[in-house]
Amino acid sequence: MDSMLVVCYSYTGTARRVAQLLASHRGWPLGEVIDPQPRGLLRCVLDSVLRRHPPVTYRGPDPGDFRCVVLVAPVWIGRLPGPMRSFLVQHRQHLHRVAVIVAQHASGADKVFAEVTRILGHAPIAKAAFLQREIEDGSATGALLAFGNALQPPSAVRPLQGVPRTASAA
Ligand SMILES: Cc1cc2nc3c(=O)[nH]c(=O)nc-3n(C[C@H](O)[C@H](O)[C@H](O)COP(=O)(O)O)c2cc1C
Repeated sequence: MDSMLVVCYSYTGTARRVAQLLASHRGWPLGEVIDPQPRGLLRCVLDSVLRRHPPVTYRGPDPGDFRCVVLVAPVWIGRLPGPMRSFLVQHRQHLHRVAVIVAQHASGADKVFAEVTRILGHAPIAKAAFLQREIEDGSATGALLAFGNALQPPSAVRPLQGVPRTASAA
């Protein structure tokens, strides 16, 4: 069984950029949750407000083959994006150890972490939030790579001491 898989959902590319950077830095495989149909902003908002589970396509390795999955997604209206919610519900029986990275404009990451905990029935082993601005200008890169470096196989999970202010152990 491989150890780590990164799975992202991204609407405008920011979370995908984070996921690609982390995966390439660590040599971890990357999967992506995709909208089967193009989506507009209104559907983004409604999926979030109504906590809907829209149809999604997942392209990537089977999450059940990995000991830990790193989820990367944006915040939508202080919630998980509907497509990532669908992915979590569809795969939750295999998601025993999950780390969560959130891309946001300003705030809402804590609510996303709480929603992931509710859906899975257990808290993420690690979590981090980055602002879109700091992802775009590269100032989040050091913190992101430190977060990835601190993640360990389950037999050696330890508190994420010394990682940047935006990251924390659950
Ligand atoms: C429908 C929608 C709702 C959003 N709601 C929030 C929010 O509640 N808080 C926030 O900080 N950013 C919010 N954003 C901004 C995104 O989280 C942010 O731009 C993120 O970096 C986008 O990631 P992406 O490019 O991977 O889609 C929202 C964006 C969209 C499209």
